[in-house]
Amino acid sequence: MLTAALGLVALCGSALAQTSSTYTDPDNGIVFEGYTDQNVTVGFALPPINVDNEFLGEIIAPVTQQWVGIALGGTMLDNLLLVAWPYGENVVYSPRYATSYTLPTLYDGPVITSLVGTYVNETYWKWVFRCQNCTTWEGGSLNTTSTSATVYWVSSNVTVEDPASANSSFTKHNDGASWDENFVAAQQGLYWNWF
Ligand SMILES: *[C@@H]1O[C@H](CO)[C@@H](O)[C@H](O)[C@H]1NC(C)=O
Ligand SMILES: *[C@@H]1O[C@H](CO)[C@@H](O)[C@H](O)[C@H]1NC(C)=O
Ligand SMILES: *[C@@H]1O[C@H](CO)[C@@H](O)[C@H](O)[C@H]1NC(C)=O
Ligand SMILES: *[C@@H]1O[C@H](CO)[C@@H](O)[C@H](O)[C@H]1NC(C)=O
Ligand SMILES: *[C@@H]1O[C@H](CO)[C@@H](O)[C@H](O)[C@H]1NC(C)=O
Ligand SMILES: *[C@@H]1O[C@H](CO)[C@@H](O)[C@H](O)[C@H]1NC(C)=O
Repeated sequence: MLTAALGLVALCGSALAQTSSTYTDPDNGIVFEGYTDQNVTVGFALPPINVDNEFLGEIIAPVTQQWVGIALGGTMLDNLLLVAWPYGENVVYSPRYATSYTLPTLYDGPVITSLVGTYVNETYWKWVFRCQNCTTWEGGSLNTTSTSATVYWVSSNVTVEDPASANSSFTKHNDGASWDENFVAAQQGLYWNWF
């Protein structure tokens, strides 16, 4: 499933470093460290001292992106994948895991809460969330000490099969991008005030 994304990266060229930057979400005041490509933004905010195994995140995507998934460790396999899609006025989210390039299955462990700033409007959908028990997973972890950790998002313009269900199946992604996330810059002293 990641082949298409890898192809895109190759097209973009490795000479251009796609690096994260700091921005404030106007809908909730959270300061995210994130990256925007093709009008898809993915951001992270981490606690100032990283012992809590959690982070805040967001996905902002045009409504033409029918689902977006984030590969927290930068590859599809053996990684915590966070997939989300718009459903009416809400966003359905689904932690997934894959050990082969097939539909990732539901993954138990993460405790996820949607936060203020989550909505669907005429042009965009937006998911803001707290993800607890999310920086380590079976066989891997979020490199919270890295200033340039590769993170991917992938997406599709094809709607998921059963949008009401977090366990919905969906077809292979046909869009995506990677970037270098600065997880050190993502650490925020105000973290605990934001939810
Ligand atoms: C991003 O959004 C702008 C403004 O709505 C639009 O003109 C542009 O075509 C969009 N680009 C992509 C890649 O979706
Ligand atoms: C945290 O997630 C892991 C899977 O990554 C799971 O095995 C574990 O039970 C979870 N811990 C808690 C306290 O929920
Ligand atoms: C829809 O949401 C997007 C993403 O937050 C925002 O940029 C845009 O201004 C919103 N559109 C309207 C009409 O509020
Ligand atoms: C995490 O990032 C640090 C700093 O870039 C690096 O030294 C370390 O090897 C990385 N750890 C893993 C498991 O990739
Ligand atoms: C999705 O995008 C592909 C490639 O641009 C296009 O051929 C296809 O018709 C689109 N599908 C939908 C459901 O919009
Ligand atoms: C999710 O869907 C798969 C495939 O349809 C099924 O095998 C599995 O039992 C479902 N899991 C849950 C928790 O409903």
